[in-house]
Amino acid sequence: MNKRDFLRTAGGASLGLTLGDARALFAAASATPAVELAADEAFWASIRAKFKLKAEYINLENGYYCMQPQEVLEAFIAHVREINTEASYYMRTKQYPNKEAVRDRLAGLAGCSSEELIITRNTTESLDTVIAGFDWKPGDEAVMAEQDYGAMLDQFDLQARRYGMLNRRVSLPLDPKSDEEIVDLYARLITYKTRLLMVGHMVNITGHILPVRKLADMAHSKGVQIMVDGAHAFAHLDFKIPDLNCDYYGASLHKWLGANLGAGILYVRKDRIEKLWPIYGDKGFNDTDIRKLNHTGTHPVHTDLAIMNAIDFHESIGIARKEARLRYLQNYWTKQVRGLPRIVLNTPADPRRSCAIANVGITGLAPKELARTLLDKYRIWTVAIDTANVQGVRITPHLYTTTAELDAFVRALTAIAGG
Ligand SMILES: Cc1ncc(COP(=O)(O)O)c(C=O)c1O
Repeated sequence: MNKRDFLRTAGGASLGLTLGDARALFAAASATPAVELAADEAFWASIRAKFKLKAEYINLENGYYCMQPQEVLEAFIAHVREINTEASYYMRTKQYPNKEAVRDRLAGLAGCSSEELIITRNTTESLDTVIAGFDWKPGDEAVMAEQDYGAMLDQFDLQARRYGMLNRRVSLPLDPKSDEEIVDLYARLITYKTRLLMVGHMVNITGHILPVRKLADMAHSKGVQIMVDGAHAFAHLDFKIPDLNCDYYGASLHKWLGANLGAGILYVRKDRIEKLWPIYGDKGFNDTDIRKLNHTGTHPVHTDLAIMNAIDFHESIGIARKEARLRYLQNYWTKQVRGLPRIVLNTPADPRRSCAIANVGITGLAPKELARTLLDKYRIWTVAIDTANVQGVRITPHLYTTTAELDAFVRALTAIAGG
């Protein structure tokens, strides 16, 4: 059966596709290259049918977190019920073996050893564990970008106050001509006192994908460690963490993996674990065991379990298809507006330097006014960004987004810019 026949006979556009149906659907589509499948609206309509959407607005703000498909949400609710029924019996007999199994599965997804990965609540917890766990000495230096996420910049500032270390910040260009332009920018701020470089894998306000591997090689050649903020890249881009050659990597699973809220990962390269100080004490583990960083106390353990269901859904689609579709959607609308009068794209033009996320502004219109008009007049939900060199609204489609929705956004944007 070919893909179109499958969609017809299985009623792919109906709401009731099971995980098994989805696997069969993708098996039927497996002969189609990911880039070609990315433009197949009938195929993606069958994925959209798995999400419960509001009719009142078009949601183009999936960067905060990605809504879960109904089957993953239902699996999560079933875990909540199951654990509530077993209560302390679950906590004392099943909690830890189950958590280990989820950790193993996540490590497989990340391409690293389970001994280098822990489950956290989110990127903030992951990266702040590294920043606050570093043995800073007065005069030490760290390098980061002013476009990095505020919570991490604040955590570095706290270390500066506490230990007398110094933070240096680059400002990222919106449309770099080469990887070397970015690598040089960071390299210029590295001194003999620099110990840690923080880089965003995908800058959240612009969608800019940074050349992380080249940055890591440069940092290591100067004896500097590198920590990567992967909040938006993990389960969005097709890569394995060890291929980036970084020392630390943090990500949120409620963004692009589609896990429920409050799930993240921290990767620490094996030989970097020993020197990190845990935030919460736990003498049960050796200094070289990453689990020393993972004493969370009593917490929502059903979240850990539901990560498995999110991975099932993610893998039923496949990372190559997911990345190709998300990049297709972004290019679909940005191609139509780049270069138009008053419209400013704050995302690199080179398609290899971005994926789902892009940012657009209108000259002479404050970002919050643009976001307000899009919602009030056109029923399109976005988020205003007005920081560093970025003034615009962030547009983040999800797997359920249609090209018809993006057409509506393009019409709205050009009408506002023309008016
Ligand atoms: C680049 C980046 N880093 C870190 C975070 C923090 O993620 P969380 O709130 O899940 O910890 C975000 C959240 O949007 C982000 O975009």
